[in-house]
Amino acid sequence: GVVEEGWSESDGKWERAAEMVKELEEKCGTPVWKLRQVADAMVAEMNAGLASDGGSKLKMLISYVDSLPTGEEKGLYYALDLGGTNFRVLRVHLGGKEKGIIKREFEEVSIPPHLMTGSSNELFDFIAMALAKFVATEGEDSHLFPGRQRELGFTFSFPVRQSSIASGTLIKWTKGFSIEDAVGEDVVSELSKAMERVGLDMRVAALVNDTIGTLAGGRYNDPDVIAAVILGTGTNAAYVEQIHAIPKWHGPLPKSGEMVINTEWGNFQSSHLPLTEYDQTLDDESLNPGEQTYEKLISGMYLGEIVRIVLLRMAEELLIFGDIVPSKLKIPFILRTPDMSAMHHDTSSDLTVVGKRLGDILEISDTSLRMRKVVVDLCDIVATRGARLAAAGIFGILKKLGRDTLRDGEKQRSVIALDGGLFEHYTKFRNCMEATLRELLGPEVAENMVIVLSNDGSGIGASLLAASHSQYLETE
Ligand code: GLC
Repeated sequence: GVVEEGWSESDGKWERAAEMVKELEEKCGTPVWKLRQVADAMVAEMNAGLASDGGSKLKMLISYVDSLPTGEEKGLYYALDLGGTNFRVLRVHLGGKEKGIIKREFEEVSIPPHLMTGSSNELFDFIAMALAKFVATEGEDSHLFPGRQRELGFTFSFPVRQSSIASGTLIKWTKGFSIEDAVGEDVVSELSKAMERVGLDMRVAALVNDTIGTLAGGRYNDPDVIAAVILGTGTNAAYVEQIHAIPKWHGPLPKSGEMVINTEWGNFQSSHLPLTEYDQTLDDESLNPGEQTYEKLISGMYLGEIVRIVLLRMAEELLIFGDIVPSKLKIPFILRTPDMSAMHHDTSSDLTVVGKRLGDILEISDTSLRMRKVVVDLCDIVATRGARLAAAGIFGILKKLGRDTLRDGEKQRSVIALDGGLFEHYTKFRNCMEATLRELLGPEVAENMVIVLSNDGSGIGASLLAASHSQYLETE
């Protein structure tokens, strides 16, 4: 190999490290032609998933949301958002067309890690208790419930097979959760039983995935919103489908002629995905081996972990951190994506941020500049692959909807509501994702495609859907 400038011949390990980086970059390559293959495979799987239950790894779940918010929604509603490392409780006062959102309050509670892998009752009791505490802070607003039951929109961000707008069984856990006795259970009745146990009188009016909540919240603000994407701890997308394009739907024809579909694209798998041995290691060690392949390439729960796995391999094989492999580097998930992002965005000429994080998190001190540069390169390769693959997924959805080309030269505005910490906080990821989407669409179509950050769209969205599915609607 060629010895790069500044790399001494005596230090062969750095030469080999550079080769490993280069090799990784090649294996993680996402040229546009490959992204087009990924998008086409996504469209094919979407069709298979719409044809029958179990027809594809893409579950294409029916949300039972057949009409999105109009702005008419009124009243005080609660929402509960469970799906990441935190859960949130919200109280939203909706004022209809004239007043809009009058007031919104929320509280965020972090979930003790042991509850994420414990029992169903423990988790739901914890949630119901936090919710009851929050309801107790209602104050003046309790006048709005004269002999009237409080109602809740429940955002539950895992794959659920729904049987109505307010019921559905958990198919499997994803991300950091694994609570066996909840799988196959109706999550609404699990929550309702817990609310009863803590003495909270509240009805779940709508059960929604975070993508569905984000779509609803997005549509409330902009009538051209057609899809929602989450790029956070996990990744997923939902979009508005024509009911006649859903062969597996045997229910009544909705007035709108539409149905919102939760794709659960995190579980997408294809031979076109650029997978490496490091991804295999991550999958083997994960809570859900063989599942959520696309999510493990893209989302915030995993990006930092991939970088750690590559670094560990370099430490073991090339001894880049000396004769002893740093013990902290062996701990799964110790390198979080926000740390990776901070290192990736380090603009100082001597990469001080990288040095500091390596020291603080992995207890690797006295790093050389070229070592820190290797770390930045790894962050760049892993984030770029994830961002470009996410763009291919969005392109796939636009293609499914026939919005990837100009129809008869007609301009058709397509708005996509985006939410999640990865998109919100990891600037390079976000920029790369948006640039790649423009690249795939071409300048003319891209001009009419808008991505909006729907910050906490999902909480607001869930309260909007609770309002439109309220038990008191008919009487008002
Ligand atoms: C995971 C869940 C999915 C959720 C996504 C984003 O992929 O399975 O339901 O929408 O994470 O939170």
